Amino acid sequence: MTRTPPEDLLAAARRAHANAYAPYSGFRVGAALRADDGDVIAGSNVENASFGLSRCAEQSAVQALATRGGRHFRELVVYTEADPPASPCGACRQVLFEFAPDATVYLVNDAGSCEVVSVADLLPLGFRLKAGGGGP
Ligand code: THU
Repeated sequence: MTRTPPEDLLAAARRAHANAYAPYSGFRVGAALRADDGDVIAGSNVENASFGLSRCAEQSAVQALATRGGRHFRELVVYTEADPPASPCGACRQVLFEFAPDATVYLVNDAGSCEVVSVADLLPLGFRLKAGGGGP
């Protein structure tokens, strides 16, 4: 598996990282995924003064995918300034699993480090409500 993230996803994730709203944690995250139709869809973490309302970058991207009618993605880049590169939180893993257990995930940081895993690697035996996943 390549250790180099796709250029277009990396660029979109970097832009999303720059646009992240993280005044409370100071930890900005950018995510960008490739939908099955080829579209690149990005998300940032968006925090809130009521901390529990904060939204992770990966979840923002998946929400945008679903809102556009997408139901699967092939690749995802998660971009942070963490070293080693940050890995999705447990809640995000379940959200990613809902749509694409087979997707390739590139964990990237601003220093150029890149780890490559699959969603199923991140969440073995993820929860499914019924065979074949969710609804339409
Ligand atoms: N965060 C993400 O955006 N994705 C993750 O997978 C883990 C954490 C965000 C949430 C919060 O805004 C900040 O990072 C610090 O936890």
